[in-house]
Amino acid sequence: MAIDQDKLMEFLHKFVGDLGATMAAGNVLVGDRLGLYRALAERPMQPHELAKHTGTATRYVDEWLRGQAAGGYVEYDPQTRAYSLTPEQAFALTDPDGAVFAPGAFELALGALRAEQKVTEAFRNGAGVAWHEHDEEVFSGCERFFRPGYAANLITGWLPALDGVEAKLNAGARVADVGCGHGASTTLMARAFPKSSFTGSDYHEESITQARKRVADAGLADQVKFDVASAQTFDGGPYDLVTTFDCLHDMGDPVGAARHIREMLAPDGTWMVVEPYAGNCVTDNLNPVGRVYYSFSTFLCVPNALSQDGGYSLGAQAGQEAIRRLAADAGYARFRRAAETPFNIVYEVCP
Ligand SMILES: C[S@@+](CC[C@H](N)C(=O)[O-])C[C@H]1O[C@@H](n2cnc3c(N)ncnc32)[C@H](O)[C@@H]1O
Repeated sequence: MAIDQDKLMEFLHKFVGDLGATMAAGNVLVGDRLGLYRALAERPMQPHELAKHTGTATRYVDEWLRGQAAGGYVEYDPQTRAYSLTPEQAFALTDPDGAVFAPGAFELALGALRAEQKVTEAFRNGAGVAWHEHDEEVFSGCERFFRPGYAANLITGWLPALDGVEAKLNAGARVADVGCGHGASTTLMARAFPKSSFTGSDYHEESITQARKRVADAGLADQVKFDVASAQTFDGGPYDLVTTFDCLHDMGDPVGAARHIREMLAPDGTWMVVEPYAGNCVTDNLNPVGRVYYSFSTFLCVPNALSQDGGYSLGAQAGQEAIRRLAADAGYARFRRAAETPFNIVYEVCP
């Protein structure tokens, strides 16, 4: 077959960018862990200054800075030989509580990639790889990646978009946060609604141990409790609000979970389903956000669903139609797309 040189160059250009981005993952984590970005955000520095300031070795820092500058993650001034961060780079690279925190995303990616051999084998035998079988950076990276988006949207945008829910939370409601991981969403809600009580649950014991530690550190232990339980078995209802943040599509039996959530809800209760942003068909998702989600989904979401009973593996790009059908199959009367951001869609589902 004849090769079109222009198309080949276009593809190679893409591939080199991706290769650099792949190695950037480790380099970004090094910069985050050693405080290199945070130090650079204070003022421009030459490599030896940055190394001295952060207690690191100059030769490593020098090479790291060159790669960072080539990738557009830091700026380089050839006149002063100093490196610096723009306000935008500092925003995305140094603030774990800002709306976007890139190091958290790379931590999740690197953690997920450590399962490459297990996932390759799973392609061969069709078996699952459960969430708890992953590297622990998957769990911490997941929280660091997702929490900024929740902090930016959950209290001010998503909950107010639900019919009557914010008023109930202000007055004092009972809330279950299912598949809560390290409890980032649970903690944010508890802090915002001191009259309400919260029960977080997740099948993954290690995540629940971390979640308990987080709420104890935040002084919220009286208001929040955590249980090790699956979405199909958690208890303690009736709840005014049940939330599932970025986990429904991870389950092998999301319809069973939806049915159980319905049983746990008060008759006038609400289920808030937060899912990754996605269109209804593959072509809708052939874009950079879709690529991120499909790639994570191949390593994390689909393997976890296949590790559980139920026969479903929706994947992270399930889309609204699949979630609507699932809610209808579980017997819910009302389904509404209530809010969205570039990364998430929020559905309001009522019994
Ligand atoms: C992508 S993480 C999201 C965690 C958390 N909700 C967040 O947004 O940070 C998916 C979570 O779903 C949990 N999970 C997967 N299958 C589950 C099931 N059947 N029941 C309860 N939790 C489940 C995993 O343990 C993991 O903590």
